[in-house]
Amino acid sequence: MAQNPDARGAAPDLSVQLGPLRLRNPVMVASGTFGYGEEYADFLDLTQLGAVVVKGISLAPRPGNPPPRLVETAAGMINAIGLENVGVDVFLESKLPYLRDRHVPVIVNIFGNTLEEYAELAARLDGVPGIVALEINISCPNVKSGGMIFGTDPAMAARVVDAVRRSTTLPLITKLTPNVTHIGEIARAAVGAGSDMLSCINTVAAMAVDIFTRRPKLANIFGGLSGPAVKPIALRCTYEVLQAVDCPVIGIGGIATATDALEFLLLGARAVQVGTANFIQPAVTAEILRGMELFLRVQKLQSVEEYIGTLDRQCLFPFAEIACGMTDLP
Ligand SMILES: Cc1cc2nc3c(=O)[nH]c(=O)nc-3n(C[C@H](O)[C@H](O)[C@H](O)COP(=O)(O)O)c2cc1C
Repeated sequence: MAQNPDARGAAPDLSVQLGPLRLRNPVMVASGTFGYGEEYADFLDLTQLGAVVVKGISLAPRPGNPPPRLVETAAGMINAIGLENVGVDVFLESKLPYLRDRHVPVIVNIFGNTLEEYAELAARLDGVPGIVALEINISCPNVKSGGMIFGTDPAMAARVVDAVRRSTTLPLITKLTPNVTHIGEIARAAVGAGSDMLSCINTVAAMAVDIFTRRPKLANIFGGLSGPAVKPIALRCTYEVLQAVDCPVIGIGGIATATDALEFLLLGARAVQVGTANFIQPAVTAEILRGMELFLRVQKLQSVEEYIGTLDRQCLFPFAEIACGMTDLP
């Protein structure tokens, strides 16, 4: 049987430029869903990934919230892990070397309870070989202090980014929460304070209850919803952020297939992060990359850059802007 000519020929170029960062492809794994990388090495060749975003790191180790901390829902899960992590010292000594030895670009997701903690953490990670960027988490909904409090107020978001910016020369990605009325305002504040890039979204504030025990299913009562259920929210947020700022945006939320990832790239996101899907299928990112490459071949595109941001907006204006609150009704 004759071979499909589109399936032959040179492989499309998947590399992307994200501000100061050049990545081999636009597929990363999202913070908190891939541990520190080593946990997944039996399932996936880590060098295939555009980057690994490691579990959120704080200055001191944190035990996280008491259990139960995870609930499955019809189309995703709710977590209230509470930013459990080993702390920056253990991370640098015994977690980072594994990824560095495998030449995977590492993005460190950082969070603190105070501006000073964010700044000190950023300073500790500055200039460490293997770390290519910091992702500033101002968006975790499951902790009592810090976290999302910084991400829901534009002035506070700017102060965090400014404090981190002054403490490091590393490229900065600010991770936004969807739990706000106007995500574009927070995006503008973060970029104005020196963030090179933005990533969105973190989890959506959520709750689950048990009709028999008549109790909340999470000890923390509230948690963050992730997985397929949040993809439409994430697409809307990504679109809104792209309208508000002129910097590279990384799309996150419910991505489990190449089609999902391509939807974010179509809007103009220059990369994506895959989160909850890693728990279901540990090698899902390899599948996404394969599907993305096949799609580009079939579309006769030589590079992923040719596809990024090619959404036909003629038919959208002005309805999407009105829905996002960026334009008043006529
Ligand atoms: C169990 C779990 C832990 C997470 N931990 C972090 C974290 O430490 N820092 C952070 O910025 N986001 C964290 N997230 C949010 C994810 O990185 C991602 O933004 C979110 O899950 C949406 O993507 P998804 O629908 O593909 O999972 C966590 C998510 C889950 C499910």
